[in-house]
Amino acid sequence: MNESNEIRELKETIDMLQEQLMHAQRLTALGELTGTTTHEFNNILTTIINYAKLGLRHKDEATRKKSFDKILIAATRAAKITATVLAVAKNRKQTFEPTNLISLVEDTLLLLEREMNKYRITVEKKFPPAITGPLPDIMADGNRIQQVLLNLLINARQAMPNGGRLVIKISYDEENEMVDLVIRDFGCGIPADRLPKIFDRFFSTKTGPDESGKGGSGLGLASCKSIIEQHRGVIRVESSEGIGTAFTVKLPTVVRIKLLEEIGDSETPSPAHNS
Ligand SMILES: Nc1ncnc2c1ncn2[C@@H]1O[C@H](COP(=O)(O)OP(=O)(O)OP(=O)(O)O)[C@@H](O)[C@H]1O
Ligand SMILES: [Mg+2]
Repeated sequence: MNESNEIRELKETIDMLQEQLMHAQRLTALGELTGTTTHEFNNILTTIINYAKLGLRHKDEATRKKSFDKILIAATRAAKITATVLAVAKNRKQTFEPTNLISLVEDTLLLLEREMNKYRITVEKKFPPAITGPLPDIMADGNRIQQVLLNLLINARQAMPNGGRLVIKISYDEENEMVDLVIRDFGCGIPADRLPKIFDRFFSTKTGPDESGKGGSGLGLASCKSIIEQHRGVIRVESSEGIGTAFTVKLPTVVRIKLLEEIGDSETPSPAHNS
């Protein structure tokens, strides 16, 4: 075998291993998601059981109505959570489609509500005001972007072991046709010498999964970066030790993707270029 063949074979092996690694990361993310939702589910079931008992105990119309209302809200939430997990589990292919980032963030927060309460994290949402009109859709694979959101939000939560504020800001960058997302925590921060390493595969300062079974593999940010790059977006970090960290993710709108396509950018994700 000559040298160029050998190099080609090595490259193929590396590609295959990278693909397997991404697959493993997706499974880890799915495992974490299932863990989160099982807890969340238990919580919802407790609500349903308690209101069913209340409705049975009290025969008056008002209490019964309230009980049914509460049961319906809780059950609807449970159905939505199951739908999300099933969508993540089923979706192996990448499907880029027009997606509303606000809805995606809201759905993700729904999955983490109990966890954030447990760790005394207050989530502040700074979304564009309704008067500015609807936020333009981004061209995205919703499941993958949700994987990014989960990792960034869980990292933020883990950076504030004693609770704290978590700010999620979404805005429209009209000039560049991008939607910007900032996830800011007021946690431990990242020392300057460590910042260049955080997107490296297997870089982690966590000793292992925490009591919620999360963190420690060092694959979270590496996969966030590769997912965002597949979307032709960018991810940046700013951090001050002891003050906090902000991750900024910029994702192209459908309009920008169309423009890029028109100028012949073949790598651009679009419904016509699903892989
Ligand atoms: N919001 C944050 N605040 C402080 N440090 C952070 C934050 N986000 C990431 N880090 C640092 O970057 C490292 C890498 O993060 P990454 O998400 O890739 O891995 P991880 O959270 O350790 O493990 P996992 O693969 O399970 O997500 C973390 O171990 C931590 O040291
Ligand atoms: Mg992580």
